Amino acid sequence: MHQPSLHLVAIMLLIPWPFSSVLLCAPVSVLVPGMRLTPDKTLTSDQGSFALGFFTPSNSTENAYVGIWFNDIPLSTVVWVANRDNPITDASSAVLSMTENSSLVLSETNGHHILWMAKTITGGNSSAKLLNNGNLVVLSSYGTMLWQSFENPSDTVLVGMPMRTTHKTHPPWRMISWKGPEDPSKGRFSVGNDLDTPLQSFVWNGSVPYFRAAVRNGYVSSNVGLQAVSPLMYLTIYMGTDGETYSTFGLSDGSSRIFYKVDYSGKTTIWRWNTSLTDWTLIAPWPAYRCNLYGYCGAYGYCDNTEAISTCKCLDGFDPSNKTEWVRGNFSHGCRRKEELQCGGEANFLT
Ligand SMILES: *[C@@H]1O[C@H](CO)[C@@H](O)[C@H](O)[C@H]1NC(C)=O
Ligand SMILES: *[C@@H]1O[C@H](CO)[C@@H](O)[C@H](O)[C@H]1NC(C)=O
Ligand SMILES: *[C@@H]1O[C@H](CO)[C@@H](O)[C@H](O)[C@H]1NC(C)=O
Ligand SMILES: *[C@@H]1O[C@H](CO)[C@@H](O)[C@H](O)[C@H]1NC(C)=O
Ligand SMILES: *[C@@H]1O[C@H](CO)[C@@H](O)[C@H](O)[C@H]1NC(C)=O
Ligand SMILES: *[C@@H]1O[C@H](CO)[C@@H](O)[C@H](O)[C@H]1NC(C)=O
Ligand SMILES: *[C@@H]1O[C@H](CO)[C@@H](O)[C@H](O)[C@H]1NC(C)=O
Repeated sequence: MHQPSLHLVAIMLLIPWPFSSVLLCAPVSVLVPGMRLTPDKTLTSDQGSFALGFFTPSNSTENAYVGIWFNDIPLSTVVWVANRDNPITDASSAVLSMTENSSLVLSETNGHHILWMAKTITGGNSSAKLLNNGNLVVLSSYGTMLWQSFENPSDTVLVGMPMRTTHKTHPPWRMISWKGPEDPSKGRFSVGNDLDTPLQSFVWNGSVPYFRAAVRNGYVSSNVGLQAVSPLMYLTIYMGTDGETYSTFGLSDGSSRIFYKVDYSGKTTIWRWNTSLTDWTLIAPWPAYRCNLYGYCGAYGYCDNTEAISTCKCLDGFDPSNKTEWVRGNFSHGCRRKEELQCGGEANFLT
C-alpha cells in the first residue's frame, strides 16, 4: 500500500506548481497520466466544495464505487457515480488513473479488469480535473474539454449543470435513478424530455411516463428565460452554440449547496443544505411535476399548467370531494359533482 502513495508524490512533483513544495500536502484536484488514485485517496476541487474518490454504500461490505460528493458538509451525499453497473469487488487492487493514451480508466486487478472508462478521443497528455462546481472534466494538453461528468449525469443535477431539453444532434438527455437507497446501479426511473415535444419534461418508470412537467415553450421562444421556481431558486433556459436548448438551475444567493435528483422511488426532489440544522432541507419539489403525477389530482381533477404554479383543478361542474384536504394540497380525494352535494341537503352547508 506504500507504493501508490510514493507514486502519487512523485507524480505531483511533475505537475507545474505555482508555489513551493510546502503545498504538496494540499489536496489535489488533478489526475495526470501515470498518476493513480487508490481507495485511500481523494481528489478535492480547488476551493474544497467537492471530492472525488471511492465509496461503499453503507449496507454493502463488498461493492465499492467511484463517485463525487459534497466535500464541505459532514453528511455523505454522493452526486455522481462512475461505475454504476460495475461495482469494484476487489478494492485492494482498484485504481482510477489517466492512462498514457489519455483515457480516464477505473480498473482492478492490476489494470486487467476495466470497470469504467470516460470515453474520449485520444489526445495525449490529457488530465482529469475535479472542478469546484462538482464537474469532473478530462482536458487535453491544450485545455480543450474532452469529456465531462456534467454531460454524463447519474441521478443528480448540480447548480450550473446543463440539462439538454432538445436532441437534434445528441441522444436524449437522461438522468437515471439509483436502484435502491444504497444501490447506485441504474434503477427504473429516469428524467428527461419527451422525444416528440422536447420541451415537455417527464419522469419515466421504465419506458412508461410516470409524471410530466409543464411545457416550457413560452420561455424558450425568447431564447433566454428566467423562471422563479421558489423565491430562492431560478431556472435558466438558453440556446447552446450547438443549437440545442438547455436549462440550468441556481440559487439567488449564489450558494452551490443544492441539488435536484430523482430517487430510487421515482420522486424528484430539490434539497438545500441547511447550516443551522446540519442537514439537507427539502425545498419545494417541482410543483408542476407533482401536479402532473398520474392520478395526483384525483378523480374528475386535472392539472392546470396555465397557472404560474401548476395546480389541481376540478372539471367544470365538480367541486373538491374533501375541501379541507384539498386546501392542504392533498388532491387525492379528487372532485365530485356539484349537484350531488346539493342533493345531500343544503342544511349541511349552512351549519
Ligand atoms: C440496511 O440494513 C439494515 C439491516 O439489515 C436494514 O434494517 C436497513 O433498512 C438497511 N438500509 C437500507 C437503506 O437499505
Ligand atoms: C486506452 O487504454 C485503455 C486501457 O489500457 C484501453 O482499454 C483503451 O482501449 C485504450 N483506448 C484507446 C483509444 O487506445
Ligand atoms: C507529453 O508531454 C511531454 C512533456 O511535456 C512531451 O515530451 C510529450 O511529447 C507529450 N506527449 C504528447 C503525446 O503530447
Ligand atoms: C413502476 O413500474 C413497475 C412495473 O410496471 C410497477 O410495478 C411499479 O409499481 C411502478 N412504480 C410506480 C411508482 O408507479
Ligand atoms: C433550516 O431549517 C429550519 C428548521 O426547519 C428552517 O426554519 C429554516 O428556514 C431552514 N433554513 C434554510 C436556509 O433552509
Ligand atoms: C376530509 O379528510 C379529513 C382527513 O382525512 C377527514 O377527517 C374528514 O372527515 C374528511 N371530510 C370529508 C367531508 O370527507
Ligand atoms: C391525502 O389523503 C389520503 C386519504 O385521506 C391519505 O391517505 C393521504 O395520506 C393524504 N396525503 C397527504 C400528503 O396528506
